[in-house]
Amino acid sequence: MKPNHRYQRLADLIAPKRISRLFKPDCLSIIPEMNLYDNIKLLDVGCNNARLIFSLATFLHDFEFHGLDIDPRVIHRNQARNRFPNVHFHCAPAENMPFENQYFDIVTCTNALDQFPQRVRALDEMHRLLKIGGEFYVLEGIRNRDRQWRNKFDKILRQSKFINPQRQILKRNALLRKSYFVRYIKEV
Ligand SMILES: C[S@@+](CC[C@H](N)C(=O)[O-])C[C@H]1O[C@@H](n2cnc3c(N)ncnc32)[C@H](O)[C@@H]1O
Repeated sequence: MKPNHRYQRLADLIAPKRISRLFKPDCLSIIPEMNLYDNIKLLDVGCNNARLIFSLATFLHDFEFHGLDIDPRVIHRNQARNRFPNVHFHCAPAENMPFENQYFDIVTCTNALDQFPQRVRALDEMHRLLKIGGEFYVLEGIRNRDRQWRNKFDKILRQSKFINPQRQILKRNALLRKSYFVRYIKEV
């Protein structure tokens, strides 16, 4: 998929400008690295307050956004705040998600994978939901120079169905340098 300059400009608008000092990287920092194009169906797994989805939905009215979280309080709060007809929330576990196969063009999972009790099963679910050629973006905080931490996520992903040669460790911008941030493209 060729980069679309319209969306690159949008990404520059939304993405955070400051490097967070927090251990948890800002989910918005993945936006400039995402391949966005028209009419995308996007799922954010472990969305919590839906910062990523609400930020994108402010500008992208032709996209279909779905946020999923296991915490019902989070989902009710998001539903009460939601003013976008193209944004939907679901209370369900990442390990068993209520969507049909190959529904989404993009699946994101930021600062959440480490919390899932069955991480490989959750990853396999995300793989099931992606269209062929669809993209999966995973972001996790990583302690400074801690290779073990990075290897831990690599190992979890290798155990899942995302094992394929299209794995790309993305060029890390300053905001993402201390993160584990990987894009996978679903081939089969
Ligand atoms: C630290 S928050 C991440 C929020 C957001 N993605 C971000 O980057 O700021 C992690 C979220 O994962 C959710 N979560 C934990 N276990 C889950 C599971 N098994 N299935 C779905 N969501 C889960 C939690 O309820 C929480 O809202």
